[in-house]
Amino acid sequence: MAGLDAGLVYNEFPLMGGGFFPPEMGFLNPEWRNYLENIPVVQFVHRWLAILTMILIFIYAGRAILREKRSEASFKFLILMTFLQVGLGIATLLSAVYLPVAVLHQLGAALLVILMSATLYQTWPWASSDSA
Ligand code: HEM
Repeated sequence: MAGLDAGLVYNEFPLMGGGFFPPEMGFLNPEWRNYLENIPVVQFVHRWLAILTMILIFIYAGRAILREKRSEASFKFLILMTFLQVGLGIATLLSAVYLPVAVLHQLGAALLVILMSATLYQTWPWASSDSA
């Protein structure tokens, strides 16, 4: 995203140029190059992969809290941070990469990796439920 300056095109959400898919979809040949070099497509994949990730994290952490009655704060932080991260991503896009927001968005990604590692460790079969 940042390397391609992909936050400087289609500064709108959720549509891209009036449609769900960007008009540039499939412009490059062979097809796979679009996912690495076609800037609007790279942005399209980034935004919807992020939304899918958010839904999966909500299901994972929601189940841990509601069904398995996990009380560790990390699960609540994970839900909060995921929500914030998607919001920061949209703000980065709508502001055409206003630097302080973009930096917070990158920091948020690092924090999410840490939170995800912590919660996965806590729910791993060999980790006892009362460890942290
Ligand atoms: C789970 C949610 C998300 C994560 C973990 C995430 C992660 C990242 C990371 C690590 C970067 C920097 C690396 C790179 O530029 O390739 C980045 C950049 C960016 N992301 Fe996200 N992102 C998420 C959601 C979103 C959403 C929903 C949007 C917009 C709808 C978005 C828009 C952007 C933009 C515009 C940039 C480029 C910023 C720049 O040029 O510095 N992100 N994202």
